[in-house]
Amino acid sequence: MRVDVLTIFPEFFNEVFDFGIIRRAKLADIVEINVHDIRLFATDKHRMVDDRPFGGGDGMVLKPEPIFAAIEMLLGTSDRDKYADGTRVVLLSPQGKPLKQPVAQSFVNDCSHLVLICGRYEGVDERVNATVVTDEISIGDYVLSGGEPAAIVLVDSIVRLLPNALGSDTSAENDSFSDGLLDSPHYTRPAEFRGMKVPEVLLNGNHAEIEKWRQEKALEKTRLIRKDLLEGANGEM
Ligand code: ADE
Repeated sequence: MRVDVLTIFPEFFNEVFDFGIIRRAKLADIVEINVHDIRLFATDKHRMVDDRPFGGGDGMVLKPEPIFAAIEMLLGTSDRDKYADGTRVVLLSPQGKPLKQPVAQSFVNDCSHLVLICGRYEGVDERVNATVVTDEISIGDYVLSGGEPAAIVLVDSIVRLLPNALGSDTSAENDSFSDGLLDSPHYTRPAEFRGMKVPEVLLNGNHAEIEKWRQEKALEKTRLIRKDLLEGANGEM
């Protein structure tokens, strides 16, 4: 998969993709990640990337011209109907569709080239949304100062699902949300720490019993913390 990030703060991404699973996936050529400065695509003499909103109001709005130019450089067109198969252009914004595990999985399934546009919280000129954007994604019901942290979250959630990105094929299958539930608790050595003992069932090597215990604990935790997941309020696309 190839990922291109468009941002007015390229330094924000210095090193953030150079750790752990994402770093390994980059080194193994499972993913290529490029970060582009939107400002370099501005053609006016002040390299302006934002301007005041028509109709008045607070804050600044990202201008369309540099974003269209960046998309045309990357994709050869700014018309989303003409993108190559497997190309998606995602605008990160609080108005987007909520990011859930099946949404991340759908990018892995359908997409080989992902272009992420990091908006400012005041917004992006709507003509960007109307023409170049294929998906608008929000990482949660709160407002960030910009789409940059959201882009990092989205990339991480996708890259770990790419084939061979994790050490073992089964690791992502057992993640929280992969079956619509939160994950069960985990323990490691020592078997007893400050008087707190690891549940006996995890020590006895009976895999059927361990699996049953994990399912019960996952259900218990989900019921306590995220009842909405059990009520089918989550997980649908
Ligand atoms: N930009 C600002 N807030 C955001 C959010 N919650 N999700 C994605 N992008 C954002």
